[in-house]
Amino acid sequence: MGRKFFVGGNWKCNGTSGEVKKIVETLNAGKIPSTDVVEVVVSPPYVFLPVVKSSLRPEIQVAAQNCWVKKGGAYTGEVSAEMLADLDIPWVILGHSERRALLNESNEFVGDKVAYALSKGLKVIACVGETLEQREAGTTMEVVAAQTKAIADRVTDWTNVVVAYEPVWAIGTGKVASPEQAQEVHCELRKWLAANVSSEVASTTRIIYGGSVNGANCKELAAKPDVDGFLVGGASLKPEFIDIINSAT
Ligand code: G3H
Repeated sequence: MGRKFFVGGNWKCNGTSGEVKKIVETLNAGKIPSTDVVEVVVSPPYVFLPVVKSSLRPEIQVAAQNCWVKKGGAYTGEVSAEMLADLDIPWVILGHSERRALLNESNEFVGDKVAYALSKGLKVIACVGETLEQREAGTTMEVVAAQTKAIADRVTDWTNVVVAYEPVWAIGTGKVASPEQAQEVHCELRKWLAANVSSEVASTTRIIYGGSVNGANCKELAAKPDVDGFLVGGASLKPEFIDIINSAT
């Protein structure tokens, strides 16, 4: 069976309750392909998760933007995987570059989080990607492989993992990776999975692209054989997110 196209919308730390209501209305009114064709997941900030989940059309799922690395307890400000599972939040984004950079999340810490979230029944969008400096130094694959290895060292079942390749230099900059650049890394990453995990995991795991995806550039990126969808930031707050979802067809 082929890999089902996946479109995630990461709302990051954006939105008032009024704005969130409008985004949900737009998503509910938009014409999108069936869930047989595309899996759509939006990720509002924690405080809006329950209201978005209850007001959104059932074909669109929700994700948290992070969760704690182990069982909850005396960890002020954190939200545990158990809490998300309890609220029937099916997905969580882990290892986003903003958290890696701003909150010093290491590869190992992200790997631990992925393993723990999966063990609690969550599905994970695991983010990897190089900085501009690393790309210019020619170490893109080395960086992405090390980030993926920290996950592979801790995870045996990849069924509920989607890997998001998000070059840091493309995030929020308007400088989208070219379809060729995205395809090259996705293809290498799949080869890495085949060599280091299994050919089954390599051929079935979805590798999605993130970084300045919008309604105008999504079609060309989606046409690449190893691009299985997108993780969209800025444009997921706008009506063009519907166009991005439709790039699945
Ligand atoms: O998680 C999403 C990415 O960080 C991409 O963000 O589409 O605003 O560049 P962006």
